Amino acid sequence: MRQLGWCECAIPAREDRSPTWPEGLVGSISHSAGFCVAVVATNRHWDSIGIDIESDQRVEPDLWPSICLPEELQQITHEDVLTTKSRVTRLFSAKEAFFKWQYPDTLRMLDFQDVEVRLNADGSSFEALCLREHRDDSRRCNATGQQFLLEGQILSLVVTEYPKNASKAALVS
Ligand SMILES: CC(C)(COP(=O)(O)OP(=O)(O)OC[C@H]1O[C@@H](n2cnc3c(N)ncnc32)[C@H](O)[C@@H]1OP(=O)(O)O)[C@@H](O)C(=O)NCCC(=O)NCCS
Repeated sequence: MRQLGWCECAIPAREDRSPTWPEGLVGSISHSAGFCVAVVATNRHWDSIGIDIESDQRVEPDLWPSICLPEELQQITHEDVLTTKSRVTRLFSAKEAFFKWQYPDTLRMLDFQDVEVRLNADGSSFEALCLREHRDDSRRCNATGQQFLLEGQILSLVVTEYPKNASKAALVS
């Protein structure tokens, strides 16, 4: 916030745990074992942000069926269990980042089975789609996200900006 010229202030959590950013800002927060990450931007150009950080290979096999759709698990399962653990953790992280990106605008609670994620082979991006039967409206139903592996941590980011020639004011009016 200081780097953006905003004076520092607390970021209270609402009843639903979502963070309350000061007027004019959008942002997202996430923690993992030993790491935390926060990203903030002015809402003049930036529309919404969702970030998530997870320790690589954190998601154990007993959780896979609850986090992955059957077709997702089929697509990412590898003969080497550690590779599959890493891919499921990436999928988990992508869904959390997508959830945080769409929630402030839609207040839509989503479960892991409500969202389908396609991990791109090179490990640097993913496509997320909110499945039709879980949409109450057409807002924020799909997004492309980026993923990074840093110091054993998987970082997932979904961020959208307003079209170049349109600021928030123009879009809201
Ligand atoms: C919000 C949620 C995704 C956070 O995930 P988590 O693994 O508990 O924790 P993380 O460290 O990644 O993120 C925590 C931060 O998320 C932010 N957050 C919490 N609820 C949020 C919401 N509804 N929308 C956006 N951000 C939210 C908060 O800033 C919180 O940090 P803080 O308490 O220090 O302010 C999780 O608690 C949740 O509500 N999950 C249910 C929905 C979901 O994940 N569905 C499956 C994916 S589609």
